[in-house]
Amino acid sequence: MRLFIGIPLAAEVMEVLAALTARLKSPSDGLRWSAPEVWHITLQFLGQTSAEQYACVQAGLWRIRHAPFEVQLEPPAFFDRAGVFFAGVRLSPELIHLQEQVVAATKPCGFEPEDRPYHPHITLARDNGGRQGLRELKSRVSADVQFTDFRAKEFLLYQSFPGPGGSRYEVRERFALTRL
Ligand code: 2AM
Repeated sequence: MRLFIGIPLAAEVMEVLAALTARLKSPSDGLRWSAPEVWHITLQFLGQTSAEQYACVQAGLWRIRHAPFEVQLEPPAFFDRAGVFFAGVRLSPELIHLQEQVVAATKPCGFEPEDRPYHPHITLARDNGGRQGLRELKSRVSADVQFTDFRAKEFLLYQSFPGPGGSRYEVRERFALTRL
């Protein structure tokens, strides 16, 4: 199975992002917009995971102890090379700490940490290969959008089911962030 670990968004943040994306999208924009129910902040992408690895990951994640913390969203931006439009997420000390704990928990299960720096984000849309859609979107997106912060109270182990219209995610496990 194809797995990743991430933080779900609070309902009030989803509302703000849904209002933003509703304003920006149009049927002929050449972009694939992700639906609010799949929005999340990835902590680690695991990819293909065997049953043995699943048990190891699950046990490792259960051992993580981390207090709830505030997540601050940053203005929307673009990964030009990947053709992605995303909402930024501030790389706070708490988020870095949780992400490092997750990576340390999955390492003994055979998952190597990525060698590129962690860049937390919420993917809102992808282009279809051509860059015209993103170029046009860029001209309409204002960088001064203000998002509300939210309190992360849990992180989730998701299973991803890739499909022609985009991936569908199912939550396999929930891990509460609790006061230490
Ligand atoms: P993305 O939104 O930037 O594409 C499930 O696919 C989650 O894992 C998504 O948040 C996705 O990030 C991320 N993801 C998918 N494939 C990945 C890969 N090969 N390396 C790192 N992250 C990946």
